[in-house]
Amino acid sequence: MGIGSDAWDELFGQPRPAELHPFREIKAGSRHAVATPGDLLFHIRAKRMDLCFELATQIMARLGEAVSLVDEVHGFRYFDDRDLIGFVDGTENPTAQTAIDTAYVGPEDALFAGGSYVVVQKYLHDMAGWNALSTEAQERIIGRTKLSDIELDDAVKPTSAHNALTTIIEGGQEIKIIRDNMPFGRAAGKEFGTYFIGYARSPRTIEQMLENMFVGRPPGNYDRLLDFSFPQTGNLFFAPSATFLENVGNDAPPAGQKLSDAHARAAPQPGPKRDGSLGIGSLKGDHGS
Ligand code: HEM
Repeated sequence: MGIGSDAWDELFGQPRPAELHPFREIKAGSRHAVATPGDLLFHIRAKRMDLCFELATQIMARLGEAVSLVDEVHGFRYFDDRDLIGFVDGTENPTAQTAIDTAYVGPEDALFAGGSYVVVQKYLHDMAGWNALSTEAQERIIGRTKLSDIELDDAVKPTSAHNALTTIIEGGQEIKIIRDNMPFGRAAGKEFGTYFIGYARSPRTIEQMLENMFVGRPPGNYDRLLDFSFPQTGNLFFAPSATFLENVGNDAPPAGQKLSDAHARAAPQPGPKRDGSLGIGSLKGDHGS
């Protein structure tokens, strides 16, 4: 679960995660990374859609009138983890310990250690325009081959390639993020989209990637994927650790109380475990994610 900066202040008061702030929109030429409203994000994933649906239903029943819906997107796996523009998506995600170090806040913000910043953007694609490109032109935009998902050699990869602009080097070290993009759409409604979801230890990394994509690195050398992909939403949330939520549980407003009615609350105190769950039992089992 991710919590936006305004909601954080209303629910928990100070202190808040050091780098939590409203999503920063970017305008560059005809490109626009919009910032849109949103207090809570529930990112629900499993191999079985029925489990996702059931959990969403239970959560919404429990939240009742306390929230109103801004957006609901049901993603699906498409062939070999491809997005709807036909490329495998997620290949360069870090794994094992690197994934942990990439995603989780550490001692730099000790009260919020184990949490993660999450940026989401709902993109719609101009599929007719994209499909009018040759496969080679598409590959130069993404920076990988389409069928075999192999990275283009630096000698042929343009500096504007998507995977070039989203490579961030700081102090000689590459700073990664974890992406869980999902395709979504309605074929008859001609809606074809990618729901971008990025987790990071610091939102700065994702913000720098967005800057490189939309403004360009150097400015003007922007991501041509954006000539065919248009964000409809943009939000930054903080997903606290389960321990944090358990400790803060009884300080949260009672179920059904509107967020805006909640009084600012004192910082969560470490202490005996209290039941801060949504009270909907468990769907745990061997269903994977
Ligand atoms: C329309 C939306 C997007 C689509 C369809 C898309 C698709 C892709 C594809 C196909 C790849 C190559 C395979 C892989 O390594 O996963 C990729 C890589 C990547 N994308 Fe995106 N992406 C989108 C938006 C974004 C955004 C908004 C960001 C960050 C703000 C981002 C960050 C990255 C990163 C970090 C990589 C890996 C680069 C590398 O290390 O090689 N993407 N994306």
